[in-house]
Amino acid sequence: SIPNEELIQRAKDVKERLGASLYIPGHHYQKDEVIQFADDSGDSLALAKLSAKNKEAEYVVFCGVHFMAETADILTDEHQKVILPDLRAGCSMADMADIHQLERAWGELQAVFGDTILPMTYVNSTAAIKAFCGKHGGATVTSSNADAMLEWAFTQKKRVLFLPDQHLGRNTGVKMGLPLSSMTIWNPIKNEFEGGYGEDTKVILWKGHCSVHEKFTVENIKECRMEDPDINILVHPECSLEVVEQADFSGSTQYIIKKLEGAPAGSRWAIGTEMNLVNRLKQRFPDKPVQSLNPNMCPCLTMNRIDLPHLVWALEQVEAGEPVNIIKVDEDIARDAKLALDRMLNQAV
Ligand code: 13P
Ligand code: SF4
Repeated sequence: SIPNEELIQRAKDVKERLGASLYIPGHHYQKDEVIQFADDSGDSLALAKLSAKNKEAEYVVFCGVHFMAETADILTDEHQKVILPDLRAGCSMADMADIHQLERAWGELQAVFGDTILPMTYVNSTAAIKAFCGKHGGATVTSSNADAMLEWAFTQKKRVLFLPDQHLGRNTGVKMGLPLSSMTIWNPIKNEFEGGYGEDTKVILWKGHCSVHEKFTVENIKECRMEDPDINILVHPECSLEVVEQADFSGSTQYIIKKLEGAPAGSRWAIGTEMNLVNRLKQRFPDKPVQSLNPNMCPCLTMNRIDLPHLVWALEQVEAGEPVNIIKVDEDIARDAKLALDRMLNQAV
């Protein structure tokens, strides 16, 4: 295999030669070897906004996962091309909501609740799911604006169908003061409710989850506190309600970083989110000891598929005039998905 130093030099060289015609956004979960070449790093919301703002770059080489690259394609102009350095970089949560399952579910839900439901989707979803929400008056949400977006949703309709992450949906509902009895689960495989429903049902949670964040448990929190009673527990809202309730703080990746930036020296932190970010925080704040909430944590395997060799390959193909892995969302889907994304971006959240 090619030595890292050589790959680093090659990436630097292409970046320099392509200048402003190339833009590299990188999600906070990306590996260090990749994030060092990112022009900007951010959470999903920040990266969506930055992609929409950048009108200069001809090529956007997106270091993140497939749904993020789709979003970038939808929000950038016609002449701009979005590239995902490895097409296998998907998101297992996004894969848990399929458009055919949603269309089938929607029929059933309409039969029960009539025209009282607004479909809302976490950005961790396919463009087709976003398009469905856009077409039916709904919007996208991210982990940093889910509460504001749900508040908005209830100004539109009496009920919300929240896809695909049951945990973010439940955590946000609880944060808004909704009782758990007003939430139910929709099982997309069985095409039926899991749990009761009725006149009081306000939130229908799609039964999806993030397999990385589900691994943080209340047990992990107990163990951390047993070892260090003053430790601060900080988790992403893709963790279960029990974990979020037991934690001291919860929020998006950007929130997690901000929290550490503002923390006093000497404070100690156990963080429940993807490993690359936790490790980066550990290195960045040696005076505020950071550890993973779960020491046996696995990384997000799909995020990690973007590595230096794939990045260099994608960059050099761009320079050679033979770009690979272009993410192009079908025009009709892109138009409707943009409705959903714009409803979020226009809420100024
Ligand atoms: P953020 O929007 O908080 O960066 O989260 C994205 C994600 O995929 C978390 O697993
Ligand atoms: Fe998807 Fe979870 Fe990976 Fe985020 S951490 S990209 S939600 S699988």
